[in-house]
Amino acid sequence: QNILVLHGPNLNLLGKREPGVYGVVTLDEINQMLEREAQELQVKSAALQSNHEGVLVDFIHAAQDQHQGILINAGAYTHTSVAIRDAIAAVNLPTVEVHLSNIYRREAFRHHSYIAEVAIGQISGFGAESYRLGLHALVDYLKQS
Ligand code: DQA
Repeated sequence: QNILVLHGPNLNLLGKREPGVYGVVTLDEINQMLEREAQELQVKSAALQSNHEGVLVDFIHAAQDQHQGILINAGAYTHTSVAIRDAIAAVNLPTVEVHLSNIYRREAFRHHSYIAEVAIGQISGFGAESYRLGLHALVDYLKQS
């Protein structure tokens, strides 16, 4: 199994960006942690980040040939992007949505997720741990199906 980890806009700034909300862990550190975790779970993983909606759509399309599941933090596009939602629906790969912050205890505009409608499930609010939990949930799902 090969998992695609996708990070959306502004997540390249993790560690420096609103540390009170998102923590001090950098994206590189999250990706390294996920790679170690994937090894332990005996799957492969590859991580990509983009600040551009269309690039994320292209990454999702390309995943169809190379990956069996997607772990995604779409950042602000979570709340706006029908295009990313449709791309996930189109490739039909099991997808787990993650967020560092708990989007439901923040501003009302963060309470709706377009991704949730096409995801197996969502993990929100545990900082970098959300990614680790999400990877485990996705791998469990893939092993059962
Ligand atoms: C986020 C939550 C989003 O509302 C926000 O726009 C982000 C990060 C999170 O991981 O908590 O960029 O997806």
